[in-house]
Amino acid sequence: MRPERKSMPRIATLLLVAWACACSAASSHDSLQSIAQWAYPQAAPGKPTHHAPDEIIRVSDSRRTFRYKDLFGPDSGATDWFPDSHPPLPPIVAHGSVPGTESCGGCHGVNGEGVPATAALAGLPRAYMLEQINAFRRGLRGARAPESATFMAREAKAVDNHDIAQAVDYFSRLAFKPNVSVVESAWVPRTRWRDYVLEADAGGQREPIGQRIIEMPVHPADFEHYDTHAGFIAYVPPGSIRRGARLANVGSGSVLACASCHGDHLQGLGTAPPLAGRSPTYIARELLLFASGQRDSLNAAPMRQEAEQLTLEEAISAAAFAASLGGEARAEK
Ligand code: HEC
Ligand code: HEC
Repeated sequence: MRPERKSMPRIATLLLVAWACACSAASSHDSLQSIAQWAYPQAAPGKPTHHAPDEIIRVSDSRRTFRYKDLFGPDSGATDWFPDSHPPLPPIVAHGSVPGTESCGGCHGVNGEGVPATAALAGLPRAYMLEQINAFRRGLRGARAPESATFMAREAKAVDNHDIAQAVDYFSRLAFKPNVSVVESAWVPRTRWRDYVLEADAGGQREPIGQRIIEMPVHPADFEHYDTHAGFIAYVPPGSIRRGARLANVGSGSVLACASCHGDHLQGLGTAPPLAGRSPTYIARELLLFASGQRDSLNAAPMRQEAEQLTLEEAISAAAFAASLGGEARAEK
């Protein structure tokens, strides 16, 4: 074991302390929020309403246009800025199916590239996705997690098996294209949540990163109009990528090398899904959920054991390294 690990509490211990401090109001939800608020996207304070319904909306990298009301209206379905970039969309991916279901594409993107608040589905193995949907339905994933991490359970219960099969077939066949650049930086823009994504404060102030990942859209206006091609920038603490590479390839003490299960370059192997190039906020959130028992299906057991050994710094480092694979990574002074 490396000496510096001894002085740092594991996530599991931090959660216990947070739980004990919260006393009567204690819940797994509050403890997770208190140790890593940045990993649990929140709605506040909501979308601005300064657009006229017929205003024409464009994004930088598509020739299509939409009227504002067609993007955000009650029947708008998932926005498709790049219809030539994917096979035909199954109905459940494009606009939902029976009442109570929402379109998969609305939350995960029609190309399955995902956003930090949801998950990238493109290229995930079919069997893995079905197993996760089953876990969501049975209350074995995210049932007592902070708000946004519970949305999928509602959807999984509302959608029938026929639609799930179509959606999972569709997403598993898409090639995953990383859309995040990982940047090591001691200072980051001061941010707040708006509509489940971090937004920089208008004044341009900066603050120390601390033990956080700060992931933001590169073009916030395009993101607001559901263009997930526009990409994300994820600030991580200096040294994270090097520390994460070591964890991924060698391990540390009782922490096994991530690659021993997730495969070379974390491209996925057997029941362990691919991690390379995926959102570091998502990866870190899942490590916290495993460590707090919020991912508790049979297949999750080895991963739960692994996550319980990690310190928060290690979880951030592993997430930063995994996300940097296949994407762009650099260090800022
Ligand atoms: C209302 C938003 C929403 C909708 C609609 C939605 N999802 Fe999700 N989904 C999420 C969120 C949020 C997560 C991540 C939960 C977490 O943080 O653990 C997720 C996670 C998943 C995962 C797990 C991914 C992984 O890597 O483990 C799968 C699989 C999935 N969704 C499939 C689907 C399918 C298929 C549909 C359409 C039938 C769908 N989702 C519709 C919000 C949504
Ligand atoms: C002993 C094998 C094993 C090791 C070692 C391991 N994992 Fe996993 N991991 C798994 C399995 C199996 C799953 C799928 C769990 C499930 O089905 O819920 C998983 C799932 C995950 C997920 C969820 C991915 C998603 O799409 O939701 C993340 C994130 C993750 N692992 C990160 C890591 C990191 C980081 C390390 C190294 C610090 C690591 N894993 C080491 C076996 C392992």
